[in-house]
This record gives sequence, C-alpha cells and structure tokens, in this order.
Amino acid sequence: MFEKILLAVDGSDHALRAARVAGDLARAMNSTELRIVVAYEGIPPYLGEPNLEYAIRSRLKEAEEIMQKAQETAGKAPAQIHTELIEGSPAEAIIEVARTRESNVIVMGSRGMGTLTGLVLGSTSQKVVSHAPCPVLIVR
Ligand SMILES: Nc1ncnc2c1ncn2[C@@H]1O[C@H](COP(=O)(O)OP(=O)(O)OP(=O)(O)O)[C@@H](O)[C@H]1O
Ligand SMILES: [Mg+2]
Repeated sequence: MFEKILLAVDGSDHALRAARVAGDLARAMNSTELRIVVAYEGIPPYLGEPNLEYAIRSRLKEAEEIMQKAQETAGKAPAQIHTELIEGSPAEAIIEVARTRESNVIVMGSRGMGTLTGLVLGSTSQKVVSHAPCPVLIVR
C-alpha cells in the first residue's frame, strides 16, 4: 500500500509538516518512490529583458530552496526520491503528476503560503481533494 507517494510543498510550515508525514509514511510503508512537487508561478514575457531572466532565475532558485528543505524534512527513506519543479498552477501540476506517475497517495498541507485566515482548506488543497485520481492525505 502507498508504494508511490507524492508530496506537494510550497514553503509553508504546513507543507513542512506534510513533508515529515510523507517521510514517516514512506518509512512505515516501505514505499518505493517519494516524488516531491513544487509548482512556481510563471513570469509574463512582457516583463522584457534583462528583468525577465532575473525574475525567472530567482523564482527557480526559490523553488529549489523549497524543494531542498522539504527533502531534508522528509528525512531518509528507503524510497527513491524524485523531484519535480513545475511552472504553472499548483493544483493542476499536482493532479497531473499524480495521474501520469500513478501515485498511490498525495500528501499535502491543509493550508499554505496564502494569507486569507479562517479558511480550513486553501484553494490548492480544495482542488486537489476534489479532483485527485488517488487518496489525498491532508496534514494540519
Ligand atoms: N506551489 C505549490 N507547489 C506545490 N504544492 C503546493 C503549492 N501551493 C500549495 N501547495 C500544497 O498545498 C497545500 C495547501 O496550500 P494552499 O495553496 O491550498 O493554501 P493557501 O496557500 O493557504 O491558500 P491559497 O493559495 O488558496 O491562498 C500546501 O501546504 C502544499 O502542500
Ligand atoms: Mg497557496
């Protein structure tokens, strides 16, 4: 069960808690694969050079740092780690990866970097819960 785990992270504390749970789950289940997804917003090309290249590079660097921290937080697992940095809508990216990689479970936080307080679930987790092709584990 849960051979292939998909972990989605966005740099929030919620997502890091999800990373810890995903690592624990991978160890408990002897999972073969832990795939970590970070989606980042694209930069509109009308920004123009040289700002465009700078903006793209800093977004990518930020996404890489989020990925690195998530990997450290998940800890060592028997599972093989795969990392995917994807430009575009987080919910679509997570669902698409789960579908194409045939993930058995998606692990994610209830909330993320969003600033709207009072919501139980952020819009990304709401969309993923509604449309995911596999079970979703929401970490509070
Ligand atoms: N860009 C992203 N890449 C990968 N996973 C993400 C991304 N954004 C959110 N997630 C995942 O979804 C979880 C919930 O975040 P979500 O975006 O739904 O909440 P929020 O940021 O508080 O609300 P909103 O984005 O609607 O303002 C995060 O803890 C993380 O696991
Ligand atoms: Mg968000």
